[in-house]
Amino acid sequence: MELIISQSIKTLNDYCAELLSKCIKEKNEAKIGLATGNTPIGIYQSLVSLFQSGEVDFTNVRTYNLDEYLGLPKSHPSSFYSFMRRHLIDHVNLKEEHINIPHGKIASPEQECIRYNHILAQAGKLDVQILGIGLNGHIGFNEPSASLSPHTHIVKLTEETRRVNSPAFSSLDEVPTHAITMGVASILRSKSILFMALGKEKSKIMKQALEGPVTTQCPASLLQLHPNCTVFIDEKAASELDVKNNIYDVQYI
Ligand code: F6R
Repeated sequence: MELIISQSIKTLNDYCAELLSKCIKEKNEAKIGLATGNTPIGIYQSLVSLFQSGEVDFTNVRTYNLDEYLGLPKSHPSSFYSFMRRHLIDHVNLKEEHINIPHGKIASPEQECIRYNHILAQAGKLDVQILGIGLNGHIGFNEPSASLSPHTHIVKLTEETRRVNSPAFSSLDEVPTHAITMGVASILRSKSILFMALGKEKSKIMKQALEGPVTTQCPASLLQLHPNCTVFIDEKAASELDVKNNIYDVQYI
């Protein structure tokens, strides 16, 4: 597994944005899986800068988000749709019809899972999937469990996840209890994965995810099975990794 380490988060963000921009230039209709959360915000900022300086054009780019809170309308400030608008969509020339995010406020969540699965199936393999990791090892909202669902499904959020995500809401009670998420098969289907982790608080779970057993109790550990997953990590999040281990191809930037 390729491990790209830097002490500078800005350097990592710029590097990732350059990779994404290269992919967008090379493919006619690049398909990119997007994540929300604090981790990718800097990548989106760097991408917006590349767009503003004319280095990348999103006209033909298709995006597919990992997840959305169940029960939140698009317009809710804490919905992942609003997050994407704030951090990327409002600042670049992505076409509305090319943006795919599960709908959180719908009469039938089950139907929404089927609809989103269908969209992913039509898209085929994404070119790049951006991923962060939860403190409990979740990817998308695939929470640790005795078994994992391969395709888009409704998930009950753990109390830890609700607590960790509560700063985006006015109180813990307002954090939805459920979400719609892409399943692990859909995530692993991507041609390449850009897996990012930042900060000391992610160091323990990154050790488990990358060097521990592959287990549904740490969904991110399944990324060890992906043939083209590159980890972008700052020195703090990498502090517990055995970087000399030959499972890694390490590059310092
Ligand atoms: C976001 C997502 C989550 C986050 C994870 C880490 O769409 O699916 O898996 O990547 O919760 O969040 P941050 O980056 O806020 O630490």
